Amino acid sequence: MRNRSLWIGFLLALGLGLSIALTQQQEVDPYKEAERQRELFRQTAGILPGELYAAQGEELFGQKRGSKNVSLEACDFGLGPGKLEGALTQLPRYFADTRRVEDLETRIVSCMVNLQGFKPEEIKRDDVKALTAFVASKSSEMPINVVPKTSQEIAMYNLGRELWYHRAGDRDMNCAICHDSYAGGKVRLSPVRSPRQGLSNEWPAYRFEADKLYTLQDRIAFCYESVSIHPPDHYSEPMIALSIYMLTEATKGKNKFTELPGFTR
Ligand code: HEC
Repeated sequence: MRNRSLWIGFLLALGLGLSIALTQQQEVDPYKEAERQRELFRQTAGILPGELYAAQGEELFGQKRGSKNVSLEACDFGLGPGKLEGALTQLPRYFADTRRVEDLETRIVSCMVNLQGFKPEEIKRDDVKALTAFVASKSSEMPINVVPKTSQEIAMYNLGRELWYHRAGDRDMNCAICHDSYAGGKVRLSPVRSPRQGLSNEWPAYRFEADKLYTLQDRIAFCYESVSIHPPDHYSEPMIALSIYMLTEATKGKNKFTELPGFTR
């Protein structure tokens, strides 16, 4: 008997706790919450997690690695070998050496393969993410400037737009249903932006809710998974196409990158 009332008391307390947590969650402004979490990190650790990833990436960037035992310092991100300042602002773009339109993550992989001599299957995703954080940090708060010009870039943009509106999955969803129709509003308590409003301008970013670094490809995959659709592979055409579509639209809307790597929920 006594056990039973204890158990009921426990359940009641749990219920009360949960309902308080839920009410609080409804009242929390996600942007303010991100700012609060960011400050907490600054105060307790003195450094933001995104900065740690970028520092890791910087170390990897300068190390002689791969079967050719060279660093990534000669990697060309579109502005010339080793030029990193602002490189992300113009990615994805077409690269003549690989004959592909590449985003930052894909370009890093290309350089690891072609310059350093890694086999694709030897490349660790965590290394690519840290390197992405480092190179992206050199475009922090800069205006986005993605303007498809070559026929390859225009084709990739068109593919991205098609995918954006392509309905798929059991729930017959596409990106536009949430990001265009609900832009400025909320989906499941989250504020939603359209590409013209700057969607995609904070990646790579540390997501404190997941306690992990997410690249733009990771974030796109997350949206696919949230509507139960199997996401495209990393470095695949659909990933690059969606990125060039969103970042071109963000350019038309005159958006800047946030602090990079970003800090978000
Ligand atoms: C069910 C609705 C829904 C669908 C469908 C959806 N998203 Fe999202 N998306 C969201 C929500 C909600 C967020 C989170 C906003 C936040 O946390 O601030 C988000 C966030 C994002 C972000 C990061 C937000 C930012 O500020 O940079 C990107 C990029 C993104 N979505 C791309 C896509 C793409 C590409 C597709 C289609 C493949 C897609 N989304 C489909 C609801 C959706």
